[in-house]
Amino acid sequence: EKGGWPSFMAKEVAEQPDAVANTIRGRIQGDAVVIPELDGLDELFIGINRVIITACGTASYAALVGKYAIEQWARVPVDVELAHEFRYRDPVIGDDTLVVSISQSGETMDTLMAVKYARERGARTLSVCNTQGATIPRESDAVVYTHAGPEVAVASTKAFSAQITALLLLGLHMGRVRGTLTSAVASDAVAELQSLPEKVAQVLAEETEHVSQLAGWMADTRSVLFLGRHVGFPIALEGALKLKEISYIHAEGFAAGELKHGPIALIEPGQPVFVIVPSPRHSSLVHSKVVSNIQEIRARGARVIVVAEEGDAAVLPYADEVIRIPLTGALFEPLLAVVPLQIFAMALATAKGLDVDQPRNLAKSVTVE
Ligand code: M6R
Repeated sequence: EKGGWPSFMAKEVAEQPDAVANTIRGRIQGDAVVIPELDGLDELFIGINRVIITACGTASYAALVGKYAIEQWARVPVDVELAHEFRYRDPVIGDDTLVVSISQSGETMDTLMAVKYARERGARTLSVCNTQGATIPRESDAVVYTHAGPEVAVASTKAFSAQITALLLLGLHMGRVRGTLTSAVASDAVAELQSLPEKVAQVLAEETEHVSQLAGWMADTRSVLFLGRHVGFPIALEGALKLKEISYIHAEGFAAGELKHGPIALIEPGQPVFVIVPSPRHSSLVHSKVVSNIQEIRARGARVIVVAEEGDAAVLPYADEVIRIPLTGALFEPLLAVVPLQIFAMALATAKGLDVDQPRNLAKSVTVE
């Protein structure tokens, strides 16, 4: 039950520190990530030449974050494929391919069919799933469960955070097994993982009221854009999807670098744009590119709302609103940056008097193709 929360979504957003902590639990040994369920698969991880991650909707955005993490840590090429596109062409897959599926419910028909298709073509399959014993994990060679607990609201929130957490763990596990991870990188990542639940809680504590107020002021907005670079890009996509789903406002997420290839034509005075700003500590180049994207849209009158690391002062001259997230590693930022976007969508839908748990036309689990 809702336990005093106004909606299941509000409860599930607030449960994210636990979803992340529970997904990590039992999967760290000393300074290394060891996922016990993947015992005995070392040869598989060493032998593969390619990973395909397949999923739908929010899970496909977690997949994009997973691509960056697995490529960086395990040095194997990763493609992300929407499950419903994957099997209607003739993808190049074989026994050197690992197909990772991601599904909260484990029952999404499009994703299930993609897994079956991959198996029939000789690929090895691993599922990341939030529901014990669901169909997709039963149809897969291996499973890494996310431990977000039951998710009731149609809009996925805590399951998304748990999926990203599981994919970070998978990347670190694979990197260790493949010998592509230095022990210094591994132990930094482990320390970072362990501090994440508290940092997610900090974002919830410090930004919920601010972001909800912002949403209240924007209840008449007709369109919102979201921009991100690197792992901020999937978060921009997720921020836009949350808003579409529950507030019925037109929203689009873009890779910030795409702006000048088209979307910048949409910017007119007053257009709200969220920008996920990567930390300058990880790459001053990536950070400065995003800051110049912000300058470009600001010069055209956009109302700029940035999600930026604490202490990042470079964004201040160009931002109408600044939402702060704590310092973390580059690949971990999505777990913090997504939280204010979830709160924003939820508060905007609430301000419009909508049912955030049961948006129109949508089902929690899409069991038809
Ligand atoms: O149960 P699944 O993770 O397989 O569901 C996939 C999508 O249908 C799901 O993430 C959908 O996009 C959500 N409504 C997003 O909030």
